[in-house]
Amino acid sequence: MGSLEGKTAIVSGAASGIGRATALLLAREGAAVTVADIDEAAGPKVAGQITDEGGQAIFARCDVSQSADCKRTVEETVAAFGGVDILFNNAGIIRRADVLDTTEEEWDQVMAVNIKSIFLMSKYAIPYIIDAGGGSIINTGSGWGLVGGGDAISYCASKGAVVNMTRAMAIDHGPQNIRVNCICPGDTDTEMLRNEARQLGETDEVFLAGAGDRPLQRIGTPEDIAQAVLHFASDASAWTTGAVLVVDGGGLAG
Ligand code: NAI
Repeated sequence: MGSLEGKTAIVSGAASGIGRATALLLAREGAAVTVADIDEAAGPKVAGQITDEGGQAIFARCDVSQSADCKRTVEETVAAFGGVDILFNNAGIIRRADVLDTTEEEWDQVMAVNIKSIFLMSKYAIPYIIDAGGGSIINTGSGWGLVGGGDAISYCASKGAVVNMTRAMAIDHGPQNIRVNCICPGDTDTEMLRNEARQLGETDEVFLAGAGDRPLQRIGTPEDIAQAVLHFASDASAWTTGAVLVVDGGGLAG
């Protein structure tokens, strides 16, 4: 028996990287999974991989910055699987620029995808999680939600907000038996990290090697982060809410 047998999870940004690894892991633990993403090519492949492995999954085309998409994604999940127990708010984007070089449009977009999305997805999913008798919401923050970083002003602002939204939501929804926790990954080998290298004009090799300079001497894998999400999604963390877990190979330790 998997630890999530009989549960339903929505994973945003599940077509790639951390979201993809988490969708696969939650499904292997028995959850029915909605793979929510704007990527209409890769998203259905993740859902297909889950069903090929004998699990349950649907793909929902969802731009998490858009209210109607978030609402429809929750409704499609309920129609397919009968409810919602777990919400992993994970989709995110980064713009590597300081205040001077960040346009207003880029600022608004980062805030919409990284923060407003959590508000919207939670707004539509929470009534169903209450109906289920409670559940778990996990938000993806970042090490840069806890400390500042260079040339990432909109991203740092958004991830700081994710960390504190997590605490506020934990307070509001604890009495409804909904736990709300945050994972703060360090540099993890995904398309986002390679995209950052391109934005900064560096090669993948140099950028990724620099990112591995931390106590555990390597960058993270999406699977490293997925295991932390599973902990928060399952009853193993039954008395944990409002927590912020750094998963970064010790990068912020000193
Ligand atoms: P990724 O780029 O591999 O995956 C992000 C996914 O989000 C993609 O499938 C993309 O299509 C989707 N997405 C982007 N905009 C969307 C939108 N508007 N609506 C729906 N889906 C959308 O990136 P990764 O690394 O897996 O990122 C996942 C989360 O982890 C993000 O919130 C990111 O900020 C966070 N994170 C990543 C770190 C890293 O080093 N990779 C470090 C710290 C945090």
